[in-house]
Amino acid sequence: MEVVIGSAAQVARWAADAVEALLRARPDAVLGLATGSSPLALYDELARRHAEAGLSFARARAFLLDEYVGLSPEHPERYRAVIERELASRVDFAEGAVHAPDGGAADIAAACAAYEAAIREAGGVDLQILGIGTDGHLAFNEPGSSLASRTRIKTLTEQTRQDNARFFDGDADAVPRHVLTQGLGTIMEARHLVLLATGRAKAEAVHRMVEGGVSAMWPASVLQLHPHVTVLLDDAAASRL
Ligand code: GLP
Repeated sequence: MEVVIGSAAQVARWAADAVEALLRARPDAVLGLATGSSPLALYDELARRHAEAGLSFARARAFLLDEYVGLSPEHPERYRAVIERELASRVDFAEGAVHAPDGGAADIAAACAAYEAAIREAGGVDLQILGIGTDGHLAFNEPGSSLASRTRIKTLTEQTRQDNARFFDGDADAVPRHVLTQGLGTIMEARHLVLLATGRAKAEAVHRMVEGGVSAMWPASVLQLHPHVTVLLDDAAASRL
């Protein structure tokens, strides 16, 4: 695990450098995308490099980590809509190149299996962007998630619903209780994992991820077992290391 500490702006630039280096070398690379606040500055930087430096996503494909269950197709906080707004619509992905688990599926198990199959058929994820929850979750793999888990339905903890209430006008009750999420086993198959964390609220989770024992109670600690992880932190997120 490579841990790099700088300013929040540097975190975004370093992550963008990794994405850009991959796309320049392999324009048809498969990207793993995360939602939440952590990657927003990265997505701004990628949109800027697309506009100003010709960075192209035209041949790339992308897979989202997770999706809420039960939000209407028009809901602006569906992660499919969020990633469209924050990145896809600002760069040149081809039609249909960005995939998300189907949180509206009637058959949840089939939708999860189809998502795993789609990732496999794409050849696997080359570079996975990750954030981390304050309780150490990755994607929506809450504490207690099997370290070998695959894409499946999960119930959010109260903590995560509180954390995400800010995207739902501050109303934690409006945050769905259920989500579809890539499992930790799915995430661990990506060839390069790039995790971004900024702010003091993440310091404990970052400490557990980097320096704690590997445990399902701190799901991100599973990254210690991956051969190619880059952890990009600002000083506040690194303050417990
Ligand atoms: C969210 C997402 C994760 C994200 C994490 C941290 O709920 N499902 O993919 O990494 O929790 O979110 P944020 O970056 O907003 O702090």
